[in-house]
Amino acid sequence: LENGLARTPQMGWNDWNSFFCNVNEGLIRQTADVMVSSGMAAAGYKYVNIDDCWSTMSRNGSGDLVADPAKFPSGMKALADYVHGKGLKLGIYSSAGTTTCAGYPASLGNERRDAALWASWGIDYLKYDNCGDHQGRNGQQRYTAMRDALAATGRQILFSLCNWGQESVWTWGMPVGNSWRTTGDIAANWNSITGILDQQVGLEGYSGPGGWNDPDMLEVGVGSLTGTEGRAHFSLWSLLNAPLIAGNDIRSMSAETRTTLTNTEVIAVNQDWGGRQGHKISDNGNLEVWRKPMSNGSVAVVLLNRGTGTATVSTTASALGLGSASSYSVRDLWAHTTGTSSATISASVPGHGAAMYIVSGGGTPSPTPTPTAPATGGIR
Ligand code: DGJ
Repeated sequence: LENGLARTPQMGWNDWNSFFCNVNEGLIRQTADVMVSSGMAAAGYKYVNIDDCWSTMSRNGSGDLVADPAKFPSGMKALADYVHGKGLKLGIYSSAGTTTCAGYPASLGNERRDAALWASWGIDYLKYDNCGDHQGRNGQQRYTAMRDALAATGRQILFSLCNWGQESVWTWGMPVGNSWRTTGDIAANWNSITGILDQQVGLEGYSGPGGWNDPDMLEVGVGSLTGTEGRAHFSLWSLLNAPLIAGNDIRSMSAETRTTLTNTEVIAVNQDWGGRQGHKISDNGNLEVWRKPMSNGSVAVVLLNRGTGTATVSTTASALGLGSASSYSVRDLWAHTTGTSSATISASVPGHGAAMYIVSGGGTPSPTPTPTAPATGGIR
């Protein structure tokens, strides 16, 4: 969507994956505080997003949505002011149906009214779900109505479509939203993450600056996902140009989780200004190779081991799209070291783990078009 937002994938946090319906203003304020104090804001995270269950169970006498006074006693405007005071942005949630998934009132048929209310509060981001009665209208119609309502407010509001990949949303999402969910809900376990990964194959041609495939929010640091699994998940979501929306309780995260989420070398792959999404180039049982062409002619690569035991995962410079050279420079984005390699690039990768490199040398990869550099010389 050409609304000036999400020229690179949006970065932030959302309460759902850890708190579900237990959202309130204390959580949002404390999360905004920690977003800054933990270094996440400096690493690029900007949006603090409220998910389902923030309103009362019915609209008020004038037909407006009302923030639940028990959960948000200071009101949404004061909360937005607080979050803005931290240099961050505030997101809210509704659904393109008559109710949200948790049964609260939603926005179908009230798009203009609700968008105007959120704009008056100072909201910067809308996650728009797909629950409730659709009144016989398809997704493209329902989501386009909200796009137009947001535009009519005159406020810049990032528009995140959440219709779970239905109606092949990637084929019509670009002019409608800044991102679109491609699957059902993620959960904090390896099978969920790899299952969602499989559903991203073939979607890479549909995303780009202004509109991104969304394989759902991050589970790094949530539940029993291990540190190794979390680094693999973060590597892959970065390579896929996914919106990087943390889903853990950042107020109590471990040092390991914080280090994963603030790995600026991995984030730089996600935020590369060219916006070319990574894709799978090979699989061999549990061993997969994914690559993303970077704007400077180098290639980001994830060597993934989906199995349980340690294994060697390999690829070649030519498979990555690099020209031939006597040696290549290999930057390890997790170890933060640089080495050289022959034309075979390989790593010993732990079970449920990934290695991630930037490989350069041998000239600019040819198979994908090179976008024009932005006049400003960079987006971030
Ligand atoms: C379904 C969405 O896919 C989730 O991310 C979350 O927003 C829930 N609905 C909230 O009810």
